[in-house]
Amino acid sequence: MALPPVAFDDLPRSVRSSIEAETGAVLETETVTAGKNSALSARVHTTGGTVFLKGLNSEHRWVWTQRCEADINPYVTPLAPRMLFHLVVEGWDILGFELLDGHHADYSPGSPDIPKVVQALRRLDDMPCPNIDLRLAEQRLSKYVTHPADAEAFAGDALLHTDWNNDNVLITGARARLVDWGWATRGAAWLDPAYWIIWLIASGHSPAQAEEIGQHIPAWATAPPTAVDLFADANAALWNEIAGDSPDVWTARLRSAAMKWRHHRRG
Ligand SMILES: Nc1ncnc2c1ncn2[C@@H]1O[C@H](COP(=O)(O)OP(=O)(O)OP(=O)(O)O)[C@@H](O)[C@H]1O
Ligand SMILES: [Mg+2]
Repeated sequence: MALPPVAFDDLPRSVRSSIEAETGAVLETETVTAGKNSALSARVHTTGGTVFLKGLNSEHRWVWTQRCEADINPYVTPLAPRMLFHLVVEGWDILGFELLDGHHADYSPGSPDIPKVVQALRRLDDMPCPNIDLRLAEQRLSKYVTHPADAEAFAGDALLHTDWNNDNVLITGARARLVDWGWATRGAAWLDPAYWIIWLIASGHSPAQAEEIGQHIPAWATAPPTAVDLFADANAALWNEIAGDSPDVWTARLRSAAMKWRHHRRG
């Protein structure tokens, strides 16, 4: 569910002062509207430069995603922007990041951004999964499989991002950079390319074309087909649940992509 946006100026004075102690005096702020889950999402221009801030109320049920994002950051830069500070002040949990100056990745057929995202997925595939507390793919997906044991097909030792929404992929020059690591997960290495495939389909690729693009990512090229079938089933169930009876256009598009992919794999 989307949270109402909070502007920088709406934060309590003590929170703003703590941020300014990290960044320098704030000169101008811009609320960023792309994200749906951060109550605060802003570009902040300061005497010390420009930073990106995201924040949640400390009571929020997803505040743990802020901790996860902070914990994972040292292991995933420079694919991710560098975290500059994590503040917990007067009921607010705030992360400050290096600002990325780029555009959201375009996943449509023929987009020049696609090879850059492939490169980012290959880099992620090469990163060892740090020994920190992370969600487990087999647990996150367990509710969407027919038989509990099926979810074991998603278990593994790889570090996964799992949210390949193109709003989370910023293209800066020749590179794709990945933001929003709050749902970082441990699981089978082919899962990130598989999550991306649904977004490629939602952006106009046929399932066959999307899978073909995935072939450039070694983890995908070696994925066990029966496990991928189970993942396609699970994602169709997951997007059906998210969409419910009256989905918005965005959710309906993702559900349709997940259903098309499942149909492609299962016939
Ligand atoms: N370091 C950064 N530099 C510039 N822009 C950023 C940076 N990090 C995030 N953004 C932009 O802000 C948006 C929101 O950030 P992010 O996705 O991390 O927050 P969120 O509110 O948790 O999003 P979601 O709705 O996906 O959960 C991103 O989609 C991206 O466009
Ligand atoms: Mg996001």
